[in-house]
Amino acid sequence: MENIARGALHIYAQNVERVDASPGDWVEVLHGGETLAYGFYSPSSSIPVKVYSWEDEDPREVILQRLEWLWKRKRRLYPTTFRHVFAEGDLVPGLIVDVYGLEVAALKVNVLGLERFKEDIADFLVEKGVENVVERNEGKGRKKEGLPLRKGLLRGKTYRSVIKEGNVEFIVDVLKGQKTGFYLDQRENRVFSEKIGEGRALDVFSYTGGFGVHLAAAGASVTFVEMGKWESGMIEKNLELNGVEGRIIRGDAVDVLKRLLEQRESFDVVSLDPPALAKEGRDVEKAKRMYFLLNRLAIRLLKPGGILLSSSCTHFLSPREFLGIVRGAAQKEGRRLRMLGSLRGQAPDHTVYLPQPETQYLKHGVFEVE
Ligand SMILES: C[S@@+](CC[C@H](N)C(=O)[O-])C[C@H]1O[C@@H](n2cnc3c(N)ncnc32)[C@H](O)[C@@H]1O
Repeated sequence: MENIARGALHIYAQNVERVDASPGDWVEVLHGGETLAYGFYSPSSSIPVKVYSWEDEDPREVILQRLEWLWKRKRRLYPTTFRHVFAEGDLVPGLIVDVYGLEVAALKVNVLGLERFKEDIADFLVEKGVENVVERNEGKGRKKEGLPLRKGLLRGKTYRSVIKEGNVEFIVDVLKGQKTGFYLDQRENRVFSEKIGEGRALDVFSYTGGFGVHLAAAGASVTFVEMGKWESGMIEKNLELNGVEGRIIRGDAVDVLKRLLEQRESFDVVSLDPPALAKEGRDVEKAKRMYFLLNRLAIRLLKPGGILLSSSCTHFLSPREFLGIVRGAAQKEGRRLRMLGSLRGQAPDHTVYLPQPETQYLKHGVFEVE
């Protein structure tokens, strides 16, 4: 329980001795007769209590005050498109809110006790001028909490927005898109890629065009590699929106990279942004092997002096381990790497809360391959 006193927000089942509460209740957490914290009780979860406060407060007030405070702080970073609430990172466990162009918001609720405040959260966003609010309440997290799966409009009538990022624009569809519609965590890294957009570029794991559209707008001739059908259609739309062109290859990344090598293609820039390859601790070794393979193939495809943009979004891999994998992949290919500046990470609206280290998850390196 010392970690709770130090600010951690998760109370695990093995640490719970006695419970006097109903599912979803706001509970006081006691240890040795002293109050440690307050939070919501989820009996079916392996983390039966998530902490939201260290004071005796009304839960609705806690949530609304935190939303208000975060609204101001996040808009200071990004005025119209931002991650308003990043769950544990922002001391609101189980809640994600993304705002696009102050026009459409997507929310995800993953804690039983929070569910009854969903309408309050939607009202808060409407009061702030975000007329369209979509819930993306799907996935394993909800099931573990014993919550029903729901997806759809909570307020307003549209679920699409066009956002500006650096020199380009993207269509964001928060209903059909992955997660909450767009990978805002990579925004700073994508904008940085505009500085190196020249020659032939390969955007592997493109989603709706992320890195590649920036590279194309900066002047590169871009090939996109993406497995999803809907996603590939969106790449076309985003290219058109920005008045640029590109080649889209639909298929599995490893297969496509191997085929490109067989066809003796080579590139000046390669971006790798795979989905989280380890979703649970036991997947880590397999994930490491896949990162290693992907980075080897990408390095082999790069011309001398080419740039590798390599990302990993699984928190099970530390920044040090990630760098070790990329370095090892280059060594195996007989190439030397130089990194432009330090290893980069998630955008600052994806707050890292130090007592919950998994809130730091994204790694992104810009490497020059000799
Ligand atoms: C983290 S997202 C990429 C985000 C993107 N770079 C951006 O900035 O918007 C990973 C993407 O990889 C795609 N994907 C997953 N497995 C794949 C595979 N084996 N081959 C190709 N694409 C895959 C997913 O459909 C998803 O769009």
